[in-house]
Amino acid sequence: MRLFFLTIFALLTLCGPGFTDSVVITGANQGIGFGLVKHYLGEGYTVYATYRSKEKSQELLAINERNLIPILADFEQPNVALQNIKRVLKNEPLDILILNAGYFAAKANNFKELEPEDFQRSFTVNTISPLILAQGLQENLSMGATKKIVAITSRRGSIQQTKEERYTGRYGYRCSKTALNAGMSALALDMPDMIVLVLHPGRVSTAFTKFDPKGLSVEQSVRGITETISAATLSHSGKFYDYKGEALPW
Ligand SMILES: NC(=O)c1ccc[n+]([C@@H]2O[C@H](COP(=O)([O-])OP(=O)(O)OC[C@H]3O[C@@H](n4cnc5c(N)ncnc54)[C@H](OP(=O)(O)O)[C@@H]3O)[C@@H](O)[C@H]2O)c1
Repeated sequence: MRLFFLTIFALLTLCGPGFTDSVVITGANQGIGFGLVKHYLGEGYTVYATYRSKEKSQELLAINERNLIPILADFEQPNVALQNIKRVLKNEPLDILILNAGYFAAKANNFKELEPEDFQRSFTVNTISPLILAQGLQENLSMGATKKIVAITSRRGSIQQTKEERYTGRYGYRCSKTALNAGMSALALDMPDMIVLVLHPGRVSTAFTKFDPKGLSVEQSVRGITETISAATLSHSGKFYDYKGEALPW
């Protein structure tokens, strides 16, 4: 009987963090991030899911799965957020880092109204935090099997595409996503053994788009994103794709 319980204990330990593939997903309480959480849990991953407020994260926190590890992280404070994640992750290997949390600067939207604080906030959340996290978690990533860093950007960060479409406004959001793209492009050169992907998720029906009825469903976007991530090799590193894996111009 004692042997039976010891065997069960050993199996449970082997199935826990450190023995399964693992992913960190930021902004995981709703929208695309929450869709990614459900996908990777379904694939048997250990999922480290960041959220910033308990009130807005009831659905995430209600999931009772041993492989789901929620972590409080507000990316307006990149170093505090990183420390919170590192405290939980310790020296466990990490396979995939998905930098999904994104902020839309409503007060740095139009040319006629550019509030510096809000403009700055979009850079802190959308540009600086993803890079601080990638840098701070590089040891965990280097121990992982797949070594993938994925930045969820926007096609609105493409200077060429927005120029061709004569798309105006969205200053804080666009500039911070363009800067994110530049940062990830640099990161791919600085971390040559990592696969660094810059991914536009499509126009998706989430709170971000006020649940645009013409947008993709979260499931459609997540299916494309996760297929693109799993197909990615070093030859894709430092490149800009959409959720279907089609290349986008910078
Ligand atoms: N939906 C689209 O059509 C679309 C298109 C292009 C790119 N994207 C990008 O896709 C990503 C996910 O967006 P979504 O559509 O899923 O929108 P969403 O449902 O509004 O999710 C945004 C996520 O970012 C989190 N977040 C925002 N500010 C944060 C902060 N200071 N600290 C920590 N977390 C923060 C949010 O947390 P709270 O819930 O606590 O606010 C939420 O979890 C974003 O990077 C966005 O720019 C979306």
